[in-house]
Amino acid sequence: MTENGALAGGHLHRADIDRLVTPDHVHRRLYTDDAIFEQEMRTVFGGSWAYVGHESELAEPGSFVRRRLGTRAVLLTRSAGGEISVVLNRCSHRGTLLVTEDHGCSAVFTCPYHGWRFDVDGRLKNVPVPSSYEDVRSGRFDLGRAHVASYRGFVFASLADEPPELETWLGAAKPWLDEYIDRYPDARIQVHATPLRYEFAANWKVSWDNAADGIHATFAHRSYNLLGKEADTETVLARNPASTPIVSRAYPFGHSVVDQRPSIPGGPWSTMRSLPTTDELVDSLRRRGLASREVLDLGTGSMVNLNLFPNLIFVGNQLVVVEPVAVNRTRWSVYLLSAPSAPEETDLMRLRVDEDFVSFGTPDDFEMFERIQEGLSIPEAEWIDTSRGAALDTEDPEVVGVLMGDVATEAPIRGYLREWTRLMTEQPPLRTRPVSPRPTVSR
Ligand code: FES
Ligand SMILES: [Fe+2]
Repeated sequence: MTENGALAGGHLHRADIDRLVTPDHVHRRLYTDDAIFEQEMRTVFGGSWAYVGHESELAEPGSFVRRRLGTRAVLLTRSAGGEISVVLNRCSHRGTLLVTEDHGCSAVFTCPYHGWRFDVDGRLKNVPVPSSYEDVRSGRFDLGRAHVASYRGFVFASLADEPPELETWLGAAKPWLDEYIDRYPDARIQVHATPLRYEFAANWKVSWDNAADGIHATFAHRSYNLLGKEADTETVLARNPASTPIVSRAYPFGHSVVDQRPSIPGGPWSTMRSLPTTDELVDSLRRRGLASREVLDLGTGSMVNLNLFPNLIFVGNQLVVVEPVAVNRTRWSVYLLSAPSAPEETDLMRLRVDEDFVSFGTPDDFEMFERIQEGLSIPEAEWIDTSRGAALDTEDPEVVGVLMGDVATEAPIRGYLREWTRLMTEQPPLRTRPVSPRPTVSR
């Protein structure tokens, strides 16, 4: 593959991709090429399941949140009957963006341009001046819809004709999601619809590569680790990465997990340092007899990094949704989760924990992402090494198709790139679908 080879414009086929992704290297163009980015937005996002939101964000009939499926503007909605839908945020008349509020509740969506109205499940309801349309209610003017599937409140969308069953897609990563949900008393999770939003000048995959990178924390987050030491605690991040028993796993469909808990026998709470108000909150829990290990652990981060390819990262107590903007620009929407069935002190502690790492740790990551993107702009240095740990990885004895390695392995990167390659190259064209088959109505 030469630098000015077969990639200029057009669709990349299997042979092109195979020249760019080898078992132990990736070509820089995956992170810098506009044509690849556009193909990803058509095939990787929407070609399989991608996370769009949580049912708890849709409290009542008519609730909606504005989201993205890759770079497509979509709305996640709950209809009067309670059904959850993902519809294109695009008027079916001339294409106007229908909704600009990030979230809300509405009986209908009304296009500001010519006043067409749609039910929140996408069905065209009313055209103020219907002259000349013979078939305005035939369904052809309904908003485009995606397949939607939900697992214990987590909602995913797909534009594939026949996406895999959601539970098949979650596969061996599903028990990790179950465990995450079951940390919450009564398995009740409230996701707050307004995220913290960050943007950085790097390709979205730079941040995906980092999601299961268990070794960078010791170096890139050094100042954060020192904060922990000053408070006379040892965070998991600060340990010597060469000797930690942390295990990293790469799953089918590109998912991955880094379980930090083997390195912290005292559990998540043992890593907690004092943050503003947290001592008082713990005192309050103790006074009320509620300071159980489970409650205190719930007030700390989960210490399990679960990554569901291509866009959902569970980190600490937060959900990071990776939103590509351009080949060299990415948004992270960071959602806060609270535990409605836990003592109220727990959520207040979680807020302090939530703001801690995003304030003092995440900026390190963003700086690395932007420095990587800058480094990858050098045309003569074409290749990125992804071989770390490959010779040491083993099959998980309990789960077929799962590769395990130590904290330093790049198996999760190699794993998601296999799924990325599959979606980029084996994908039939994606499309939206009508609300429901509806006979043509003659007037
Ligand atoms: S573009 Fe929406 S009603 Fe015309
Ligand atoms: Fe990091």
